[in-house]
Amino acid sequence: MGFCFWVCFICLLNFYSLSFVSSQADASAEGTVFIDGKAPIGRIDDDFICATLDWWPPEKCDYGTCSWGLAGLLNLDLNKNLFLNAVKAFSPLKIRLGGTLQDKVIYDTDDNQLPCTSFVKNTSEMFGFTQGCLPMNRWDDLNSFFQKAGARVIFGLNALAGRTIAPDGSAVGAWNYTNAESFMQYTVDKNYTIHGWELGNELCGSGVGTRVSADQYAADTAALQSIVQKIYQNVDLKPLIITPGGFYDLDWFTEYIDKTTKSLDVVTHHIYNLGPGVDDHLVEKILDPSILEGVSGTFSGLHNIIKNSTTSAAAWVGEAGGAYNSGHNLVTNAFVFSFWYLDQLGMASKYDTKTYCRQSLVGGNYGLLNTTNFEPNPDYYSALLWHRLMGRNVLSTSFTGTDKIRSYTHCAKQSVSSSHMQLSSIVNPPFLGP
Ligand SMILES: *[C@@H]1O[C@H](CO)[C@@H](O)[C@H](O)[C@H]1NC(C)=O
Ligand SMILES: *[C@@H]1O[C@H](CO)[C@@H](O)[C@H](O)[C@H]1NC(C)=O
Ligand SMILES: *[C@@H]1O[C@H](CO)[C@@H](O)[C@H](O)[C@H]1NC(C)=O
Ligand SMILES: *[C@@H]1O[C@H](CO)[C@@H](O)[C@H](O)[C@H]1NC(C)=O
Ligand SMILES: *[C@@H]1O[C@H](CO)[C@@H](O)[C@H](O)[C@H]1NC(C)=O
Repeated sequence: MGFCFWVCFICLLNFYSLSFVSSQADASAEGTVFIDGKAPIGRIDDDFICATLDWWPPEKCDYGTCSWGLAGLLNLDLNKNLFLNAVKAFSPLKIRLGGTLQDKVIYDTDDNQLPCTSFVKNTSEMFGFTQGCLPMNRWDDLNSFFQKAGARVIFGLNALAGRTIAPDGSAVGAWNYTNAESFMQYTVDKNYTIHGWELGNELCGSGVGTRVSADQYAADTAALQSIVQKIYQNVDLKPLIITPGGFYDLDWFTEYIDKTTKSLDVVTHHIYNLGPGVDDHLVEKILDPSILEGVSGTFSGLHNIIKNSTTSAAAWVGEAGGAYNSGHNLVTNAFVFSFWYLDQLGMASKYDTKTYCRQSLVGGNYGLLNTTNFEPNPDYYSALLWHRLMGRNVLSTSFTGTDKIRSYTHCAKQSVSSSHMQLSSIVNPPFLGP
């Protein structure tokens, strides 16, 4: 490593709280940042920033609030320049397509015998909706948009296909990949580049709605790997095998990672550490350092499992919206949410997470873009700033003084090093690496 101009992201939680907690008279806080530049503690992907698109139809509502509108994968308007340019600005932005309903999607390839209709609301169905179908002309339109926007696509496959729900609520039986396989073949025949195929959404550990055992999931992952190897045998660019896309659970992940050392490229997990979006105290939680720090056990736990295993899989956050059930209007799409988001990006990097997918790019109350008109919300700029400034190498950083200042340091991105030198020298003179 030669020179390493570093960028230090510092979030001053008390600056924000001061603006409305007038009783806090002591406005100044002194502290010291320690940065250990001997060797990086983590190395993120160059395209670390990722955002999600979901399947929710307009009828998806939470406590009477319907926040998805036409932002779902089947409805999204792909002809808006603002939307196209927002994605292009990253070139490339990773986009993960998935979410709760992905496991109930059927692909309208030639083998499909069922009518190709959209999700219909039905409260007696799992996840509140019937199965839905992706028409191939819609898949063509989506890919044409992704190509124009220079996005890298991660596609979440329907992991519930072929399984039955046992009386104890678990999903049993093997994944039936017949339909997924022909969908993958269609995709390859059309020359659409898929960066990674992800299997399943929130079915690991205790699951959401239902769950699949680690042992069965490992067998399904091997099946996914074998269909990918077969379909991509004459394609130079091989897609990544990504799973399980759910909540971290020590025992489940330990067993699963141990049983997939030969098949898995990326292990994904989801973060919703602020609780339900309907909570009226989300702002206090977002500005509470103990709540922000509380989720570090998830990152360190997964990091330790991977370090202690012979797996070569990397950890990603595959979906993180902070507050579940679609977030909270005027909180998770407002300026204050960047205190959570930027802290998450920093913390994930510190534990060697390679990619971080924000729920959502658009849709719900936590979009980087406004659901109705694609105008950027504040976190869009946080994501773009991170993408432009923060380089791959993560440096160990600690702060003493107050726990309301949370700091993270990376070497600056080479491509824009002149502006980095300016920015980093505001914090400190440029740093000479080993
Ligand atoms: C809703 O789903 C249940 C269970 O699958 C089914 O029995 C019922 O007919 C459905 N209701 C409607 C209105 O389609
Ligand atoms: C898998 O699903 C297909 C429909 O996509 C069906 O024709 C086939 O019989 C199923 N295979 C098994 C083993 O159940
Ligand atoms: C895909 O690429 C191959 C090789 O470049 C080409 O022969 C084929 O026509 C392309 N198919 C489509 C549908 O564009
Ligand atoms: C690491 O792996 C060894 C051997 O499989 C096991 O005994 C030990 O408990 C593991 N340690 C952690 C922290 O998971
Ligand atoms: C999104 O745009 C709509 C329409 O202009 C507007 O009413 C709404 O307040 C915007 N939402 C946010 C969070 O800015």
